[in-house]
Amino acid sequence: MIEILSDYEMDKMRAAGKLTAVILSELRKAAKPGVSTKHLDDIAMQIIKEAGGSAPCVGYGNPPFPAAICTSVNDVVVHGIPSKHQILREGDIVTCDVVAELDGYMGDAARTFLVGEVDERTRLLVERTKEAFFKGLEKAQIGNRIGDISHAVQECAEGYGYGVVRELTGHGIGREMHQEPDVPNYGKAGRGPRIQKGMAFCIEPMINMGRRNVLLGDDGWAVCSADGLPTAHYENTIIMTENGPEMTTYEEGLNG
Ligand code: MF3
Ligand code: CO
Repeated sequence: MIEILSDYEMDKMRAAGKLTAVILSELRKAAKPGVSTKHLDDIAMQIIKEAGGSAPCVGYGNPPFPAAICTSVNDVVVHGIPSKHQILREGDIVTCDVVAELDGYMGDAARTFLVGEVDERTRLLVERTKEAFFKGLEKAQIGNRIGDISHAVQECAEGYGYGVVRELTGHGIGREMHQEPDVPNYGKAGRGPRIQKGMAFCIEPMINMGRRNVLLGDDGWAVCSADGLPTAHYENTIIMTENGPEMTTYEEGLNG
């Protein structure tokens, strides 16, 4: 069942989303050569605790996810586990995917950061993954269907010759991190659930420079591109208000 949020609940989503945005802004500053991915996780955890929130990723799934955020480097698409042994190097890209809970509601957002100087092909991949997100967001309008978003994301990414990951999708969100509906990054316009006021969901293109195929890592979490080429991710939580889509996890000048 797709949940419909009241105006009161949408305010709670805004608060959790703002916390998520603040964390990503701090992580962008911290993602420099020489820093471990565990350090990024520590920063996120500290901000969440100070705000009186929680990190729903901790203990999630099976095997239980052992950290507050996912840190996915280079060919890792999503769900990279932070480690004190994994040091970021000049030329890497690192996706930080943050879920923060505040007062019972959640924000979920991801950014792929450039670590120092990054080669142009990879920079373009990161930039165009964000562009694919915004093409999808344009279709997040009351009365449209989820498939309209999916189709727009796919058309943009494949237009650049990239591979659209299919094994993972965007999702509804609210009191839980993953709710109905799924929001795939590929599909046909005019299909899927109708978008209504009060819906909350994440749009999150996961885009490979090469082929779309992915593999699951030995740790049971990290998902990497099968061809080993770089991959990017861009995600925001969206609430549907009567005025259209509102990104709770995006603030221009902060983490936009
Ligand atoms: N944003 C990620 C997702 O939707 C969060 C994963 S946290 C984890 O899949 F607990 F699954 F690791
Ligand atoms: Co998500």
